[in-house]
Amino acid sequence: MAEIANSKLTVIGAGSVGSSLAYAALIRQSARTVALYDIQTAKVEAEVLDLAHGTQFTGSSEIIGGDDLSVIEGSHVVVITAGAKQEPGQTRLELAGTNVRILQSMMPQLLEHAPDATYILVTNPCDVLTVIAQKISGLPVNRVFASGTVLDTSRLRWELGRRLGVSTSSIHAYIVGEHGDTEFPLWSSASVGPVPLLDWSRAGAVTESEFDGIALDVRDAAYKVINGKGATNYAIGLSGARIVEAVLRDEHAVMPVSTVLDDYQGISGVALSVPSVVSAAGAVPVAGTPYSEKEHRLLHDSAAALRTSLASLGF
Ligand code: 2OP
Repeated sequence: MAEIANSKLTVIGAGSVGSSLAYAALIRQSARTVALYDIQTAKVEAEVLDLAHGTQFTGSSEIIGGDDLSVIEGSHVVVITAGAKQEPGQTRLELAGTNVRILQSMMPQLLEHAPDATYILVTNPCDVLTVIAQKISGLPVNRVFASGTVLDTSRLRWELGRRLGVSTSSIHAYIVGEHGDTEFPLWSSASVGPVPLLDWSRAGAVTESEFDGIALDVRDAAYKVINGKGATNYAIGLSGARIVEAVLRDEHAVMPVSTVLDDYQGISGVALSVPSVVSAAGAVPVAGTPYSEKEHRLLHDSAAALRTSLASLGF
């Protein structure tokens, strides 16, 4: 396991997501060395310079990078953000064709330079790409996973915290399933501090009838941001950096990342986000997470949507 003191993170893709993730990782000191790689030489060199110019203020982490894959050597974690991004009105699954092709050509080269790394997929559709990356690499399922619904969960906690007047860190609630249109919240096990959310809502603040609206707002949050500014980048950057820390610090933190499932709630062979323990060993779904009958059905619906997408791509 890498101590944070000598840890190396590589971010693949110097677009707005990759650069924001590198920025967040530097500020949070998620890794000792942050490397940024992109095939676009001028762009990656400019992003690395811009980030480097601020390192007086970011503690002891250093930023390196460029267009040569040798920059990724020695990485403990590789985060993949490269690929086409959603245009306004486009779903994440509609990016699959283009981004699968990019991943197929890139993954073998990454593995050649960083065979011992843990791989985290951020590029969308991240659940679909996780299955493909795992197949191409042959790595154990715990070492290839997607950021999944960590960001959506943060959006949910922000929304609930705001409405309930409670810190987001005291909201224990998860969005699970596809990072996309079939995702949903696990309301049945959500709590505010020690109080089940359903009991809290009975006391006022948020009524149970408002839950569906909150779930839709969270599901559609990225569309709203993309309509306004063309992309989402800051929150996904922070989410990615936070997941990297859990790996590099061997935290055993519970996060809803997306791994290829094996008989989880009866689902196998597709990657979906479920509460998982994230550590130096990668990500392992938490056994025993409770699902109501409706939540169990929704998880299967989400798996079916991803299976359809994978089948249409020949996987
Ligand atoms: C997001 O949810 C677009 O997947 C990206 O912000």
